[in-house]
Amino acid sequence: TIEKQHHRGTYHFSPKENWMNDPNGMVYFQGEYHLFFQHHPYGTTWGPMHWGHAVSKDLVVWEELPIALGPDEHGMIFSGSAVVDWNNTTGFFDGEPGLVAIFTHHAEAADNKPAVQCQSLAYSRDNGRTWVKYEHNPVLRHESYVDFRDPKVFWHEPSQLWVMVLACGQTVCLYRSPDLKSWTFASEFGKDVGFHNGVWECPDLFPLQVDGNDSGTKWVLLVSIGDDPAFAEGSRTQYFTGDFDGERFKPDRVSRETIRWLDSGRDNYAGVSWSDIPAEDGRRLFIGWMSNWKYANLTPTAGWRGAMTIPREIGLQLRNNETWLTQQPARELLAYRRPRINNSRITAKAAAAVLEDLQLSNYEIRVVLDAANSLDIHVRVGSKEKTVIGYNGSASEVFIDRTQSGVTDFHPDFPGRHTAMIPEQEGTLELRIFVDQASVEVFAGGGQAVLTDLIYPAPASTGLTVFAADDRMIIDSLEVY
Ligand code: FRU
Repeated sequence: TIEKQHHRGTYHFSPKENWMNDPNGMVYFQGEYHLFFQHHPYGTTWGPMHWGHAVSKDLVVWEELPIALGPDEHGMIFSGSAVVDWNNTTGFFDGEPGLVAIFTHHAEAADNKPAVQCQSLAYSRDNGRTWVKYEHNPVLRHESYVDFRDPKVFWHEPSQLWVMVLACGQTVCLYRSPDLKSWTFASEFGKDVGFHNGVWECPDLFPLQVDGNDSGTKWVLLVSIGDDPAFAEGSRTQYFTGDFDGERFKPDRVSRETIRWLDSGRDNYAGVSWSDIPAEDGRRLFIGWMSNWKYANLTPTAGWRGAMTIPREIGLQLRNNETWLTQQPARELLAYRRPRINNSRITAKAAAAVLEDLQLSNYEIRVVLDAANSLDIHVRVGSKEKTVIGYNGSASEVFIDRTQSGVTDFHPDFPGRHTAMIPEQEGTLELRIFVDQASVEVFAGGGQAVLTDLIYPAPASTGLTVFAADDRMIIDSLEVY
């Protein structure tokens, strides 16, 4: 029997009890970050979906609140988003701005009738503490799409309309509305581009300034792709970059010609971004569900199941005239750093000796090394197990190897070595690695390559070390927090 808190992350959000999948309705309002989540409050596997709820002042410390939304006559509450209705376009609020959730109602197939998915609203006049479902739900239905879900809504200033991006089987559909209640079809994207082995889910669409390009703004479309048994990768999230004119998303050349994944690890799914981050902040903040439909229902925790990634900031970078997405840990995490080790210009041999004195299960390591060099970092090391994170300068590759990370036998596709190509670096390479009770997140080269993997080591596996082929190799900086 596993003890209840076993494998619970210390700085990753997980529900206090029972099952969680996708993050939902992330919105910032009146000093609070809201995080809702797909929740089965009566079991540790997927079941009748509710929206669980948590709030945070800094994206790191979360307080779980009572369940926000539960199933009703239209069905379960599937994924969706939330927005601040600043100008009372809905008429739900008297003069004051308020929160509106836009979500999928899912009615199970019954009596020879197929399952039905449609979009509905709920609103809150008390900062998300209580919710009222709109009396005329649903607000958007479709005759022929069976998979018709996960609305992500944002206000499009130039057209003075709300825009909804919705997953429609193998494409994404865009709808527009003046009031969140009546929706008009605008366009469909994805028929002939992108990855199609798996159902399209949880889209997001947002503009971002391109780094190092003063005038350049590009639009990013995230689309999560469901598990296809034929692919060991399981469920994962792809992204497109391009332009958006209020009606239509137009992918740029690299997005038409290549399939690009948000994360090269296995456990970052259904992630979307926060709504209504104040303009003076300007960040695009993201969180993902740190699991994979391939084995999400089988992971070895007890009493609860499912966690989120750390909060991240999404960026865009111009390389060879192409726009690429980056992910960096949200800066709020810096406030929680407590320095344990801080060495500069240390040999790999000396670094291993310093690390030998540490016993840690949840921490951040920051390593800076010559980009031409290679280094392996072993974390959560025990007598019979370890997780290996590696950077290989000659192959321009970063990897996580979790084949011997601890409990791996709950699914044949769980153990494995996951790699990310990293664009050639000039000078040095920075690795920021976040290790917790059941996860490893690697941010390489300022978030140009990112890997997120679950691991299930024994609590006593707290060792930590580094290996270089030549142990006289100089590590420019080695920090542990
Ligand atoms: C993605 C997803 C969504 C759906 C929800 C159901 O993980 O399948 O498409 O709304 O989970 O829990």
